[in-house]
Amino acid sequence: IDELVGDGVSGKRVFVRADLNVPLDGDTITDDGRIRAAVPTIQKLAESGARVIVASHLGRPKGAPDPQFSLAPVAQRLGELLGTEVAFATDTVGDSAKATVGGTADGGVTLLENLRFNAGETSKDDTERGAFADQLAALADAYVGDGFGAVHRKHASVYDLPARLPHAAGYLIATEVGVLKKLTEDVERPYAVVLGGAKVSDKLGVIDHLLGKADRLLVGGGMAYTFLAAKGYEVGKSLLQEDQIPAVKGYLDRAEQLGVEFVLPVDVVAAAEFPDLKTKAPANSAVVTADAIPAELEGLDIGPESRKRYAAKLADAATVFWNGPMGVFEHPDFAAGTRAVAQGLLDSPAFTVVGGGDSAAAVRQLGFDENAFGHISTGGGASLEYLEGKTLPGLAALED
Ligand code: 3PG
Repeated sequence: IDELVGDGVSGKRVFVRADLNVPLDGDTITDDGRIRAAVPTIQKLAESGARVIVASHLGRPKGAPDPQFSLAPVAQRLGELLGTEVAFATDTVGDSAKATVGGTADGGVTLLENLRFNAGETSKDDTERGAFADQLAALADAYVGDGFGAVHRKHASVYDLPARLPHAAGYLIATEVGVLKKLTEDVERPYAVVLGGAKVSDKLGVIDHLLGKADRLLVGGGMAYTFLAAKGYEVGKSLLQEDQIPAVKGYLDRAEQLGVEFVLPVDVVAAAEFPDLKTKAPANSAVVTADAIPAELEGLDIGPESRKRYAAKLADAATVFWNGPMGVFEHPDFAAGTRAVAQGLLDSPAFTVVGGGDSAAAVRQLGFDENAFGHISTGGGASLEYLEGKTLPGLAALED
């Protein structure tokens, strides 16, 4: 981006593909981390006199306008953070976008409506995606890719659009890639990876890749129960992906051969019912051993003994990557595991990277100072796929 700015962007329409996919409760933004992360690039371009066109997706609408996924609340928040008014176009390539972009002054900022309101954005058909990218390209003179959270998507605004305009990477992408690169090239050891979240199927690729790289894999969250089941334990009503048990067994065996340590919960906090996340009413929970969860209970967090063990495994690590909460952290009765891992990261001298929207939101919602962590990635799937060593369409498009 510095090169693009150095060549002169004053008066030019610069399209910034950001990832402003933030969690919303109605039209209230519950975590604005991704909007804040987008500010430096937008600010730099605006200060340099560009007419900045910001665009993003939000949620997964079905290729047509859907008010619950409108970016309007984001325009408001972005304006507050930039300290300037952000004009909002109520479509992506239609009359509103053309008029709003046309009316943007030098140094002004426009946000387009959700890119996924247009079926061409996510289409698997190259021609359909290309046609949408052509329409977006007609709005701008240059392109800056800065939506790190979406670089693993082969979408029109991420992959096809940069090929149509002079392009550059923004500050966020540069920072994210710089940090994640450190984890794939000479990483300092011991290297511990903490994986959580609901589904083990989302993490198979990264586990596969990390088996040759990490020294310790600490597993929590809903995905841990498939590991416990693979070891032959009773998991009661806990989340279980039975079809993944053979794959997980394979990973446990390979880890043993390679000398990689798998750290699984030894106790869990369980309840008969999934807790009410709105009222946060007490859940009547119990701590049970992880090798025999009673049939009527569902494991919803790692237990106190596991917390101690996980903290100890982080205490002498030199590098830690963490993706995914350890339990249902949104409810106070099941937040202790996630809190213990966050605290373990802070207490450890290790270089720490927190990846994934959920873990990043957990860190903030649990009241931790995000600046105390080495790096909090804005990318969930994107950071995992980067660590898997995959070619990410949104990065490849910026490299050529
Ligand atoms: C994310 O939240 O991980 C990114 O914004 C990508 O969103 P998607 O998974 O809906 O493509």
